[in-house]
Amino acid sequence: MLSLHSTRALNNGIQMPVLGFGTYKLTGAQCEQSVSLALNAGYRLIDTASYYQNEREVGLAIAHSGIPRSKIFLTTKLWNDQHEDPIGAFNQSLSSLSLDYIDLYLIHWPVEKVRNLTWKALQPLLSSRKARALGVSNFLIPHLEELLSQTETVPAVNQLEFSPFCYHADLLDYCKSQKIQVMAFAPLTRTAKFSDPRISHLPQKYSKSMPQIFLRWSLQHGMIPIPKATSQEHMLQNTQLFDFELSSKDMALLDTLNEDYRISKWDPSVFK
Ligand SMILES: NC(=O)c1ccc[n+]([C@@H]2O[C@H](COP(=O)([O-])OP(=O)(O)OC[C@H]3O[C@@H](n4cnc5c(N)ncnc54)[C@H](OP(=O)(O)O)[C@@H]3O)[C@@H](O)[C@H]2O)c1
Repeated sequence: MLSLHSTRALNNGIQMPVLGFGTYKLTGAQCEQSVSLALNAGYRLIDTASYYQNEREVGLAIAHSGIPRSKIFLTTKLWNDQHEDPIGAFNQSLSSLSLDYIDLYLIHWPVEKVRNLTWKALQPLLSSRKARALGVSNFLIPHLEELLSQTETVPAVNQLEFSPFCYHADLLDYCKSQKIQVMAFAPLTRTAKFSDPRISHLPQKYSKSMPQIFLRWSLQHGMIPIPKATSQEHMLQNTQLFDFELSSKDMALLDTLNEDYRISKWDPSVFK
């Protein structure tokens, strides 16, 4: 049975928590405070990116938490304008975070022409143990097929937008078949789809909130969701996912809702 402390083994053997905390749009003191509260609430996976301009505050919250570094799993990402010097970008993130190593370093978007070269350039981070795992984000099947034809290191993770309203079963199945763990970003549709009448009966049926239903759906599909919350109440609620299970009938109902609904500014298919 899963719990907040459960982990999943990535394809290189390292363990990653099954639930994470997202930090996009959290900045300054509010970011440091939210990440501190999240760590207090039991989250052990924190997701940031150089693009979010909050690595310093995330690092401060980790440093002040009193939790051993080895118990925290930190993910950050290389932004689209950093492909010219991938190792420089990584070192910049490491320095902003004031950390010695990063658990998971992702290529944020599959930028044309350079993405596979960047992947190659990042490989020494694994042997030097500065990154425990490398992965990608927003890579669709064609991007992955192209990358896998050129590398021996299969990405450990692909961070993708996934919710019942942005559900691409073929992409999830493909990642599973290649042993690439899917991390689900915007798993709550940033609240946009909480009132859909087709699923309005589910919270009462399970005595859970709609966000908890969405997150449980991700977990039961084997994804690692990374909801963001500023409110402490939301943050705590989003950890209470391990004392109920959606029936296969309700999973199937949620699976029918896909409408390619995206909060991210780009559909990854624009990257050729
Ligand atoms: N790789 C990528 O390209 C990419 C793109 C986008 C996001 N991400 C990552 O994914 C993370 C999550 O995505 P997101 O932040 O865009 O959206 P999200 O997690 O789907 O939604 C966050 C919103 O949901 C609200 N919320 C959270 N828990 C709630 C609850 N229990 N009840 C009611 N409302 C609740 C939050 O409100 P409050 O803040 O008021 O609590 C916030 O407005 C990001 O923070 C980031 O780390 C990655």
